[in-house]
Amino acid sequence: MKITVIGTGYVGLVSGACFSEMGNNVTCVDIDSEKIENLNKGVIPIYEPGLEPMVLKNLECGNLCFSTNLNSIANDAEIVFIAVGTPMGEDGSADLQYVLSVAKSIGETMHKKLVIVNKSTVPVGTANKVKAAIQQELNKRNVSIEFDVVSNPEFLKEGNAIIDFMKPDRVIIGAESDYAIEKMKQLYTPFSMSHERFICMDVSSAEMTKYAANAMLATKISFMNEIANICEKVGADANQVRIGIGSDSRIGYNFIYPGCGYGGSCFPKDVKALMKTASEHDYNAKLITSVEEVNDAQKLVIANKIETRFGENLKDLTFGIWGLAFKPGTDDMREAPALYIIKELIQRGAKIKAYDPKAMDVAKNYYLKDIDNVSYVQSKYQACENADAMILLTEWKEFRSPDFDKLRNELKTPIIFDGRNQYNMFNLANKGFEYYQIGKADKERFTN
Ligand SMILES: NC(=O)c1ccc[n+]([C@@H]2O[C@H](COP(=O)([O-])OP(=O)(O)OC[C@H]3O[C@@H](n4cnc5c(N)ncnc54)[C@H](O)[C@@H]3O)[C@@H](O)[C@H]2O)c1
Repeated sequence: MKITVIGTGYVGLVSGACFSEMGNNVTCVDIDSEKIENLNKGVIPIYEPGLEPMVLKNLECGNLCFSTNLNSIANDAEIVFIAVGTPMGEDGSADLQYVLSVAKSIGETMHKKLVIVNKSTVPVGTANKVKAAIQQELNKRNVSIEFDVVSNPEFLKEGNAIIDFMKPDRVIIGAESDYAIEKMKQLYTPFSMSHERFICMDVSSAEMTKYAANAMLATKISFMNEIANICEKVGADANQVRIGIGSDSRIGYNFIYPGCGYGGSCFPKDVKALMKTASEHDYNAKLITSVEEVNDAQKLVIANKIETRFGENLKDLTFGIWGLAFKPGTDDMREAPALYIIKELIQRGAKIKAYDPKAMDVAKNYYLKDIDNVSYVQSKYQACENADAMILLTEWKEFRSPDFDKLRNELKTPIIFDGRNQYNMFNLANKGFEYYQIGKADKERFTN
């Protein structure tokens, strides 16, 4: 099948590569000409395990190509995916300007029947807006062309995106016509050969499903972080509580790890957008609002522990940071807790030496570009050379079982602030460390 994917970011590029891997003829379009030029040379703009070889292979065999020109390409295709960003607008709502600008371009140029698919995360009602934007352009041109607008939200996880896309838990299809549902099934059947994974529903419910899923996961995280904060107050250990509650299959172990909060390109903006949608419909979404409030506070729990240990003024202190990305397996730093924590420590006068396996370039050149007193080093131990403490902020595998003797020797003082509770199973007190974690009272740090 001929497919066009508009927007070549984390979702668009992964979707395009995976569709081409299944033998489809895919063109990925983006307005960022440098990105497209690089992709045509085989230079992949993001880090995502397994993505590079898949793109290179399909580029070479001609199943996949990249272009900045939407006009001719969208018309070659049977299905056009919109996978552009829907960032947080100033008022917290999803900013639909990129989605609607793509819709306008499609309306300006389409000349045959198309299935247009919203893969971007968009609030309920967006499919109607896309439809109206396309129709408006068709009317201006005085032409009548049939088209469908389908909602097909994406559930891939950065860091595991290729596997998630190739073997989806479910494929949500929100559509109004049998023709569109059939086309979508044709496209997705190869991804669910062992058993059918399609869930077809009305368009509004499909749009809402994505927000409900992200809000649920964010709720689990904030719930556990709140429990962890209470644990610290009462002298309980959140890690033991986690194991205790996770063993209940109704609760499960996923997304209940205490830590320094959720970040990334999806949860923060999607939780906010859902609150905004609710308020636009005169509903005060109290639970979702609290999920966000707990998360905002949680990002600074580690900074507050550092203040308790070293005092308010951190001048003359250097901290070695392990991990910048919002989670392991990605170079994405959008809304990463590390950004908030580093800025807070710098504001209190500290210096930072940071190491991340994949996200240092994006930190240096973009997110922390204007922040002085942050240096970037080539290894985790180098980050700790003569530092006053190590702070773990992303649970990359290479941080899970470090050489603690080496780490202690590098640090000026053997102190670890563990923002992801990775080391509570090691007896760090016996290894000579002062150890601070989330959800366990600091006074117990020597007996962890
Ligand atoms: N990143 C994730 O893990 C993830 C997962 C599921 C859903 N989503 C959703 O998918 C959507 C895309 O997210 P992303 O992380 O891939 O975004 P991204 O910012 O990585 O990529 C968006 C791309 O769209 C391009 N673009 C913008 N306007 C364009 C236009 N008019 N024509 C062509 N290209 C244009 C940009 O240049 C950019 O390359 C969002 O709605 C997001 O919420 C993201």
